[in-house]
Amino acid sequence: MAMNWKSCLTFVVSFLLFKVSHFAEFATTVPSETQLAIQGQNTVLDCSFPVDKQWDRTCCQIEWKLDKEVVHSFYYGQDHLNDQSSRYVNRTSLYHSDIEKGNASLRLEHTTVGDEGNYICTVHTEMGPKRKSVYLKLAAFYSEPRLKFSTSACGVELLLTTKGYPRPSVQWLTVSGEDVTNDTVTHLSQDAQGLYTVSSTVTLQGAVNKTLMFVLKNKDLGQEIRRNITLLSGNCVEVSPGVCQEIWWLVITILAVMLKYCSCI
Ligand SMILES: *[C@@H]1O[C@H](CO)[C@@H](O)[C@H](O)[C@H]1NC(C)=O
Ligand SMILES: *[C@@H]1O[C@H](CO)[C@@H](O)[C@H](O)[C@H]1NC(C)=O
Ligand SMILES: *[C@@H]1O[C@H](CO)[C@@H](O)[C@H](O)[C@H]1NC(C)=O
Ligand SMILES: *[C@@H]1O[C@H](CO)[C@@H](O)[C@H](O)[C@H]1NC(C)=O
Ligand SMILES: *[C@@H]1O[C@H](CO)[C@@H](O)[C@H](O)[C@H]1NC(C)=O
Repeated sequence: MAMNWKSCLTFVVSFLLFKVSHFAEFATTVPSETQLAIQGQNTVLDCSFPVDKQWDRTCCQIEWKLDKEVVHSFYYGQDHLNDQSSRYVNRTSLYHSDIEKGNASLRLEHTTVGDEGNYICTVHTEMGPKRKSVYLKLAAFYSEPRLKFSTSACGVELLLTTKGYPRPSVQWLTVSGEDVTNDTVTHLSQDAQGLYTVSSTVTLQGAVNKTLMFVLKNKDLGQEIRRNITLLSGNCVEVSPGVCQEIWWLVITILAVMLKYCSCI
């Protein structure tokens, strides 16, 4: 039963078509949207690739990089972490038992703000390397605001501090809803971990009895902090036009000077 040339051609064409479609199919897949992780917690960056029946894990390589930094690398059926960037040591793993099912996902533990960035998942097979990138964004909930009041010459100053990530929006409103943010001063500074410390200062002159609302929004986490703060400063006496001094503070200052003087004797 010799094959005639027609069926032979059909066979060759369909084989080629199969190979071509098979080749076209091979690509790694990662989530298209930005991934969000909470600072200090663990996260999984998904990456998958198609596998056929004769998948041989010893022939293939999986590599995760953050730009040029090696995050994790796997080949000959095991992890090879000699080139791993020191900041990822003991924090990364792959799902070894799921790799043969096409799972190249990376588990990252104890995330920090420095982990933010574009991660590239590369799967090398006999069909060459296929890479895709996924963006990881970090966020940290802003802490309960800490308040520090101080009274200056006939006025009151409030310093509010809170810590989180990323940059928040900060607003100060009066009870009637008027935005008085422009009358306040807010500074942001980053600590060694990359977290932002927000320091917001409100200074009010004269005898004060006022409630202001502090509003902080951390958009990435849908976090909103609203706190009503009542600022109250004692009675003032006008010692000369435009200059007033709070009696009590004057007394305390005099006492402090006396004490300092006495202790020096
Ligand atoms: C890989 O496996 C882990 C653990 O079962 C799972 O969390 C992750 O979503 C899987 N990733 C993919 C792309 O299937
Ligand atoms: C990683 O884990 C190993 C074994 O538990 C430990 O000896 C090593 O000090 C750890 N390295 C870092 C950087 O945490
Ligand atoms: C703060 O004050 C506003 C306006 O007086 C009021 O509507 C709101 O309920 C108060 N919020 C809290 C948390 O007390
Ligand atoms: C605060 O100042 C900015 C810039 O000077 C201005 O664009 C904004 O309208 C001001 N906001 C209010 C509530 O006055
Ligand atoms: C502050 O103002 C509120 C309402 O305006 C009033 O009820 C309260 O007694 C005042 N407190 C002082 C110490 O003046």
